[in-house]
Amino acid sequence: MKTIKDIGEKLEWSNDLSVGIQEIDEQHKVLVNILNELNLAISQGKGKEIRNQIIDRLLEYTRIHFTVEESLMRILGYPKYEKHKQEHERLLSQLEGFSSKMAAPDVSSYELLFFLRSWLINHITRTDKAYEAHFVQMGVKKTWLKSSWLDKFWK
Ligand SMILES: [Fe+2]
Repeated sequence: MKTIKDIGEKLEWSNDLSVGIQEIDEQHKVLVNILNELNLAISQGKGKEIRNQIIDRLLEYTRIHFTVEESLMRILGYPKYEKHKQEHERLLSQLEGFSSKMAAPDVSSYELLFFLRSWLINHITRTDKAYEAHFVQMGVKKTWLKSSWLDKFWK
């Protein structure tokens, strides 16, 4: 299981974080990249305006990503949908709270970063990973389908 030992450590994508479905993995990679951007901004001593811009972007992308996951869960009749959605909602309200707190100079940015990274790792490896078997059983493809030369011919 992936853990972050050093607070300033960059979060590297690895197979430990894969949920086994490429589309979802690609979206999770975007979240990891934004968190690493925040890490860099903090370590370079960037001001709160820059940090808040990154947090706002993180919040926006997280909302989009959760919407996609929740739609897929509903479409595919995932039995643990309600519990999963609750986890998403809890995180969003925590993020919104942090976003306003970041304006205060006494809030440790690393504390927020550490919380977000731990949340993401736990959520991906426990809660998200759990839907893989159901999704695949319902016909979701694990990897993107490449279109063949024949498809191009008919277009
Ligand atoms: Fe999720």
